[in-house]
Amino acid sequence: MAGLTRIAVLLSGRGSNLVALAEACARGEVPAEIALVISNRADAPGLDRARERGIPVAAIPGKGVAREEHERLVADAIEEARAQWVCLAGYMRLLSPAFVARFPQRIVNIHPALLPSFPGLEAQRQAWAHGAKVSGCTVHLVDAGCDSGPIVVQRTVPVLDDDTPETLAARILEQEHIAYPAALRMLLTRAWRLEGRRVIFD
Ligand code: GRF
Repeated sequence: MAGLTRIAVLLSGRGSNLVALAEACARGEVPAEIALVISNRADAPGLDRARERGIPVAAIPGKGVAREEHERLVADAIEEARAQWVCLAGYMRLLSPAFVARFPQRIVNIHPALLPSFPGLEAQRQAWAHGAKVSGCTVHLVDAGCDSGPIVVQRTVPVLDDDTPETLAARILEQEHIAYPAALRMLLTRAWRLEGRRVIFD
């Protein structure tokens, strides 16, 4: 279909954010089509979520492969699929500066905390254990750091006294499924620029 931006989604696991993005595209809320889903794990359930929707998939195992070589294979697959944007959705590998430079300001990630608090793994548990009263999710542009790029959208949730890391994660996940399509829609449909670290929409 003309006018749709081609997107590659990279994931390592469940794929619920992939589903949220795919459904938002199918509803016409995001003017994009998911051209390819890539996983570094051949057994990622997210690949099945893609197949169910007729989205092309590629498993490019990372184990036992040098990072440079693995990233080259992933970047080549993205370019072969003619994807202009890359959405990380639970992709459990840090991208090198060389990979990030291949898709400048065209890689987006979702993180289950209000960055810059609680970057890295198990962010929901980190926020819960720290005693934060509010947490949420962040959609950000990807730079060469870990969860450190410019923020596009954040959504908040309360942390309740009787929460467990799991109940908090479930509350955050609901907001992730709203935030990711919303951020992508904004990036694709509105004029925006970076002022320092700040993503400014006109
Ligand atoms: C989400 O919590 C996302 O914020 C984090 O990894 C998780 C992926 O979940 N980066 P899913 O595979 O999209 O269900």
